[in-house]
Amino acid sequence: MWGIFLIIRKQNVNRTKGQAMGFHFRLLLLFLSPVSVTVAVYRDSADVPRLGPPIVDAHQREIIAFRPDFASLPCAVRGRSSTTAYEWRKDGHGLILTPAKYRLVDGELQIFSLKRPEDEGKYQCVAYNEDDAEISLPTYLRIAYMEPFERTVRLPIVVTEGDTFRIRCDAPDHYPLGAYSWYKGFPLQRVEPDERIFISNKNGDLFFRYATLQDSGNYSCEVAPHMYYPTAHSPATSVILRSGNVTSRPPHVVLSPEVVHAVEGQTVTMQCFDDAYPVSETVWKRRARREASDELPLPENAVLQSNDHLLILPDVRRDSDGYYSCEVENTLGRMSILGRLTVNVPAKVTSPGTETPLRLGENITFKVTFEGTPPMTVTWYRNANEVVTSGKYVIKGDTLTVTDLRFTDRGRYQCMVQNEYGADQVFFSLVAVEPAIVTPLQDPQTAILGENATVSVSWEASPPLTISWRHGDTTVASVNMDDTQTVTIINPRINLTKEGWLFINDVTPDDEGEYTVTVSNQFGQAQASNHLTVIALPTEKLGTNNIPLVIGVNVAIAVVIIVGVAVAVWIIRKRRRDRVRSPARPDAVILRPGRDEAFRVRLYIDDKVPVNEDFGTEDTQALTADL
Ligand SMILES: *[C@@H]1O[C@H](CO)[C@@H](O)[C@H](O)[C@H]1NC(C)=O
Ligand SMILES: *[C@@H]1O[C@H](CO)[C@@H](O)[C@H](O)[C@H]1NC(C)=O
Ligand SMILES: *[C@@H]1O[C@H](CO)[C@@H](O)[C@H](O)[C@H]1NC(C)=O
Ligand SMILES: *[C@@H]1O[C@H](CO)[C@@H](O)[C@H](O)[C@H]1NC(C)=O
Ligand SMILES: *[C@@H]1O[C@H](CO)[C@@H](O)[C@H](O)[C@H]1NC(C)=O
Repeated sequence: MWGIFLIIRKQNVNRTKGQAMGFHFRLLLLFLSPVSVTVAVYRDSADVPRLGPPIVDAHQREIIAFRPDFASLPCAVRGRSSTTAYEWRKDGHGLILTPAKYRLVDGELQIFSLKRPEDEGKYQCVAYNEDDAEISLPTYLRIAYMEPFERTVRLPIVVTEGDTFRIRCDAPDHYPLGAYSWYKGFPLQRVEPDERIFISNKNGDLFFRYATLQDSGNYSCEVAPHMYYPTAHSPATSVILRSGNVTSRPPHVVLSPEVVHAVEGQTVTMQCFDDAYPVSETVWKRRARREASDELPLPENAVLQSNDHLLILPDVRRDSDGYYSCEVENTLGRMSILGRLTVNVPAKVTSPGTETPLRLGENITFKVTFEGTPPMTVTWYRNANEVVTSGKYVIKGDTLTVTDLRFTDRGRYQCMVQNEYGADQVFFSLVAVEPAIVTPLQDPQTAILGENATVSVSWEASPPLTISWRHGDTTVASVNMDDTQTVTIINPRINLTKEGWLFINDVTPDDEGEYTVTVSNQFGQAQASNHLTVIALPTEKLGTNNIPLVIGVNVAIAVVIIVGVAVAVWIIRKRRRDRVRSPARPDAVILRPGRDEAFRVRLYIDDKVPVNEDFGTEDTQALTADL
């Protein structure tokens, strides 16, 4: 059983101009006598095996170690493989991985017996692959800690019933900032905030709008920096109440909203607490400028808590920036206090990376555009080393120019943009591939007298420059695969397709002979030859020659084929009956895909050429049509 596999790979091309013209073209077409035709279509680039898999670990700007004995930092770089070698840098210097202190597991850095502040700082991993290296965005390691509370006895607070008062938490230094709670009496009872009581989430202080006799007792503040971290309790503060009466008063704000500097994406809280009696109403408002009278709506995701004393702004954006006022009012008066939110934006690259064919001797300039809160720095890396202006490289702020390109300049250039709040990066590649014939020309190859013949070849090169074909010693056609696609033809019956395949119109006996294709670019050349035999065919039309196939919805396609159905049958019949017939007319129709789509074709003989395993089979839609 004979068959032909035609594999068409359709790719969405999203590349630079230099590439779109056909870089990395791989084409192969074989003509043989088919009995069945199988057409397989690969739909998108996801299944195409390519170098540089996606980022493995999401980059974390800050990692907090909660255990004093261990921290682990993942190496968030792209293009890792089993042969990748790793190195770590701390605050810009190579880290010596002494075995007692560090362990490297698949690129991940494990640190033991943490010490603060020695082990805190900026960590970056460097991943070395066969021919390039990449440095990761910085990760800041912080070690969670809490100093002990001062154990000195706290002075009692004496208050008169009806007075406003506050008990200080006086928490010791700690990181990260956590939650505060208060406990009272023995056994300990949790103090629940209400319209009269409020706990500041900035420093843990406990506020009472007015004192009641039940407030007397011993109070202790609890600090919990994190759910995985042990909590700590302050020494008790005792509150002694003297009897009195609550006096009516207009509001006076005792805890004001502040100026808050946040980073985009953070959750911000603003608090406002007053001493009004009767109890006041709290209303939060927002405006763009201090003096502006026009009010803006609060961000849509804003939340009010603790009897409206707490305004929570989750996931702040740049446009959450502005003035937030708390207005408190009771029957006796009102008061308004202004807080301010400034949202800082981490550095973010806004331009895409590029992949450009390298052209010897030329200069190339990579440019990055970015946004974020100034000041921002741009750092260029080549193989994980910072690039500085020299004879070879010219750095001007957001651009890097590599001058007088050599083959060794191929590879990736990494650009990192940073500010105080974050970092981002983008890659620019210079691609250079020496020409190679991917699959040798099939030999022998047959053309039918009076028909058109195509001799195709699978090649790769970047940048692709010239493909030329010789018949014997005579050059018959050549094409420059640059932007101009200049085709030079010597014999009017011979032409080249846009893929660089040889097309012979109306084959004559003279076309028989040795054909040699040479693919050359600046970096070298590759050649392949084969012999073309011209044969005559019987006249009778045998079998169905035209197989229209429609595959998929958005797969522009096409097809075609046929070729030498007749040849096989004819050869078989000729042998059997020794009778000569004139040529049949097998048709070949290739419908082109859309303009912006590259198109790759592979044709295999199913029991002669193994199907290329690279492609996998999952996304393959196969249709078989028996001839
Ligand atoms: C507070 O604690 C002190 C010392 O432990 C104790 O003498 C006092 O009675 C306590 N006060 C109250 C109201 O429980
Ligand atoms: C509280 O007010 C009541 C009446 O309004 C009065 O009888 C009492 O003496 C006042 N107590 C104090 C401690 O001022
Ligand atoms: C490349 O840049 C260098 C230095 O900026 C300049 O001297 C040279 O003329 C440039 N070469 C080309 C081909 O533009
Ligand atoms: C050969 O190709 C020419 C031009 O490409 C076309 O006009 C002609 O019909 C083709 N001949 C056959 C037999 O397919
Ligand atoms: C050669 O083929 C190209 C398209 O591939 C066509 O535009 C051109 O007219 C052909 N030249 C000749 C001489 O047939």
